Amino acid sequence: MKRLVVLTGAGMSAESGLKTFRDMGGLWEEYDVYEVASPGGWTRDRDLVLRFYNERRKQLLETKPNWGHMGLVELEKDFDVRIITQNIDDLHERAGSTHILHLHGELRKSSSTTDPDLVYDIDGWELNEGDLCEKGSQLRPYVVWFGEAVPAIETAAEIVSTAQILVIIGTSMNVYPAAGLINHAPENAPIYIIDPNEVSVPGYSRIRVIREKAGTGVDKLIKELTDE
Ligand code: APR
Repeated sequence: MKRLVVLTGAGMSAESGLKTFRDMGGLWEEYDVYEVASPGGWTRDRDLVLRFYNERRKQLLETKPNWGHMGLVELEKDFDVRIITQNIDDLHERAGSTHILHLHGELRKSSSTTDPDLVYDIDGWELNEGDLCEKGSQLRPYVVWFGEAVPAIETAAEIVSTAQILVIIGTSMNVYPAAGLINHAPENAPIYIIDPNEVSVPGYSRIRVIREKAGTGVDKLIKELTDE
């Protein structure tokens, strides 16, 4: 089976009703990213940060995977599919994809503020001031914030370097190091971009653009790949 590596971003979950970050009406228009998603913001106002992620988590529990997520599951019949997602939602898991790497953490988990190896599932949607790890420290969202290292990036780069086909879905490719993963794709691997808007990835002549939302875009991709 050919190895198909998929890099997903917020646009993947847009048709499930979750907002993207940088589109019009996106989350970073409504919130100051440095106040809700950075170590500095956490130091300044923990309550604001916890409320921001509680709201995201609450919405996530009310939504479900869309046709795009389901299409990626279907592709597992014909391809060795490896998903690398920048999304912190669990919609790929709930759709049924089997190989998923989260680059920026997971919304439904918390981690200790003193020992990052202590990671817990969050029951329900709330994480609050006073929720402690087993060592007695405050728990924080298990999310990679701006200015923090991305521990999974090396594993992700290795996966991309084994791609026979690379598919990029619903990401503006603005945030590094995730956006740099494209540079690890083998030279002979075709690269597909599924996005309703233009995504600028300079210097790649082998890119095939499917200018569609994730649902119809993945459908077209399946047709194209399985007709070959
Ligand atoms: N289907 C597919 N793509 C879509 C859809 C849709 N229905 N709707 C919007 N998009 C596209 C937009 O055109 C844009 O290119 O999704 C992309 C969303 O880009 P961003 O909002 O920048 O999200 P993303 O690239 O995932 O952000 C990366 O930035 O804020 C941080 O940590 C956060 O993981 C996030 C990272």
